[in-house]
Amino acid sequence: MRLGSLALRNRVAMAPMTREMAADGVPTADMARYYARRAAGGTGLIITEGVAVDRAGHFGASVPRLYGDDVLPAWTRLVADVHAHGAAIIAQLWHVGAFSPSMVGMTDSLEVERLSPSGLAAPGRPFGSAMLPADIDGAIQAFAAAAALAQAAGFDGVEIHGAHGYLVDQFLWQETNRRSDAYGHPHGIRFAVELVRAIRQATGPGFAIGFRLSQWKQLDYAARIAADPRELSALVEPLVDAGVDLFHCSTRRFWEPEFAGDERPLSAWVRSLSGRPTIAVGSVTLDVDFKSPSGKRHAGTQADHIDWLEDGLARGWFDLVAVGRAMIANPDWAHRIACGEANGLRAFDGAMLKQLD
Ligand SMILES: Cc1cc2nc3c(=O)[nH]c(=O)nc-3n(C[C@H](O)[C@H](O)[C@H](O)COP(=O)(O)O)c2cc1C
Repeated sequence: MRLGSLALRNRVAMAPMTREMAADGVPTADMARYYARRAAGGTGLIITEGVAVDRAGHFGASVPRLYGDDVLPAWTRLVADVHAHGAAIIAQLWHVGAFSPSMVGMTDSLEVERLSPSGLAAPGRPFGSAMLPADIDGAIQAFAAAAALAQAAGFDGVEIHGAHGYLVDQFLWQETNRRSDAYGHPHGIRFAVELVRAIRQATGPGFAIGFRLSQWKQLDYAARIAADPRELSALVEPLVDAGVDLFHCSTRRFWEPEFAGDERPLSAWVRSLSGRPTIAVGSVTLDVDFKSPSGKRHAGTQADHIDWLEDGLARGWFDLVAVGRAMIANPDWAHRIACGEANGLRAFDGAMLKQLD
């Protein structure tokens, strides 16, 4: 499949997954091996774990970063290792906004002031400070600089993390964006649009720009940024105009219909409204969803998903399939599926997150 100037060998992507194994933000040799193993396992497109664009948006020092020149050699080696195995790789650019390790019961080692559109992590949940216009400009410049650094390291593109209730999504969601200036609603899309434009300007044509979006938020699974196709269209169209090449539609179950009265999932709606390729994701080949309310950390194999995925591809619902936990359990997920071995996939268990292999 072609993505702008990028040729992908198949439609299998590795979903971005934070592993918190970086050394003061610098990717390690173990991380390079971990990604290279998934590339050697046949994956077409690797999307890295979320990577911090600046200190205010950095979850913690164990999360890798794309700011500071000291990170360039390590990223360059990691990207070269992945390319050597025939996969493309894009970096997921992440700014946490009004979120920090303290929200999930951990210590915030960076001790920075957390910035967001209105100083709200969720409705009725104040956290950190509301961004001043200069903070907004600074964040946009940080994204652009991180993308330029990614390009210098040899990445094939970047994915803006516009999902799950972090900074970019905090602008998109009316409940966390109470601003009355041009970045507020009903045009809450302006921040995301300016990010895309700034990244395009910093990297030039041909560098893939993906955008990950979701209805659900880390702190609210029932949240919605688009209640109907018209609202979804108002989100994706300006992003296409700004230069997005690929949309990653983050759902916890890839097959679920998005709007009442129509069987199509979010990836299919975004594809038809944007005219751009989309990635479907969520529980691929697994029988328990990510962040399942049941709290189950073990997920068995659901091999018949392969038929559902083929059906979705044939209907033109999505172009790529991102695999998360099942690819942690099976670095060679893509090879196994190509060989018709879905039934032999290893189950996922939360304990696998403790090490990087
Ligand atoms: C350990 C872990 C870390 C994750 N970190 C990120 C992240 O950094 N960025 C992101 O957009 N999604 C993140 N996700 C969500 C995944 O990209 C994916 O959407 C989710 O796991 C559903 O796919 P799956 O059911 O195939 O695992 C993470 C998921 C897991 C399991």
